[in-house]
Amino acid sequence: MTPAAEASTRQTVDAVDDAQVRLRVRPRRLRRTPALRALVRETRVYPAMLVAPLFVRPGSGMRQPIESMPGQARLSPDVAAEEAARLADLGVGGIILFGLPEGKDPFGTGASADDGIVQDAFRRIRALQLPLVAIADTCMCEYTDHGHCGPLAADGSIDNDAALRRLAEIAVSQARAGADIVAPSAMMDGQVAAIRAALDAEGFGQTAIMAYAAKHASAFYGPFRDAADSAPAFGDRRGYQMDPANGREAMREMALDVAEGADILLVKPALSGLDLIAAARARFDLPIAAYQVSGEYAMIAAAAERGWLDGRRAMLEAVTAIVRAGAGIVLTYAAGDIATWLRDER
Ligand code: PBG
Repeated sequence: MTPAAEASTRQTVDAVDDAQVRLRVRPRRLRRTPALRALVRETRVYPAMLVAPLFVRPGSGMRQPIESMPGQARLSPDVAAEEAARLADLGVGGIILFGLPEGKDPFGTGASADDGIVQDAFRRIRALQLPLVAIADTCMCEYTDHGHCGPLAADGSIDNDAALRRLAEIAVSQARAGADIVAPSAMMDGQVAAIRAALDAEGFGQTAIMAYAAKHASAFYGPFRDAADSAPAFGDRRGYQMDPANGREAMREMALDVAEGADILLVKPALSGLDLIAAARARFDLPIAAYQVSGEYAMIAAAAERGWLDGRRAMLEAVTAIVRAGAGIVLTYAAGDIATWLRDER
């Protein structure tokens, strides 16, 4: 054989060898049966890692459907307590309460009222001694007449340091009513430190803080603002919530919240922040939570209503991806549904 022919033969033999090696490696072997797939599944969602947001409104015996969030409703405190009991029965890990007060004012006074709507609901839930974690969203946008997350300064901007005083009062009143965790979501600078100091000073050293550390100014909060009647009356939240384009800034916000004493870090929205969830998981050793927000829920629920996709599969896929990215806690409006579905998953 000429050297050229020999080289060409060698190449052919190598190619055949390569092909055989490639065919020995067959990832599909482990996808063959449901049992094999269950055995090698890397990510599982458990009811205990889910937190269900509940909207509490005045009244009794009330369950008022929320149009923009199919399957969700505004509940009076007594019904919210029943719902919490139902979720606890399903093994759901926690609930987070949002309040829709009777009246609003410039300071969001209702958010820290001892007889406030959320405080009332916490007391009823506490009385049931349910095996789930009671979390309070600590903000005032549902309680201010202008719909912003803090009191206004003379120039119409949000007064950060006045907001800190209010957030501290709100957190203390929520802890007093029985919240295990307070979750500041106002994106004010220094909010975790201010709340930690106030809780400790008032004897609530055991109340934990789940910091909405990386919260983007997101269009995906639309349905929530309709549900909670909390859309800003003027302007938007871009002066305090983060630009969705920024990931390094999100890491900086999280590091600040760790330094200020946060117990849990939360990323929000979840599906558009999967990279941040993964980065947070790698960088910090605190529990990482993610919020599958109203718009993420509504997109799937609305498409499912129209028969455009399988709502159950899509919801499970989205929440599984959030857990795969690194979240150990997921806030989701589908918590009850998912806990029910998981009963027949293996
Ligand atoms: C309060 C708050 C909001 C959400 C959680 N806490 C509204 C907002 O920032 O406008 C949104 C949750 C959701 O969309 O499901 N600041």
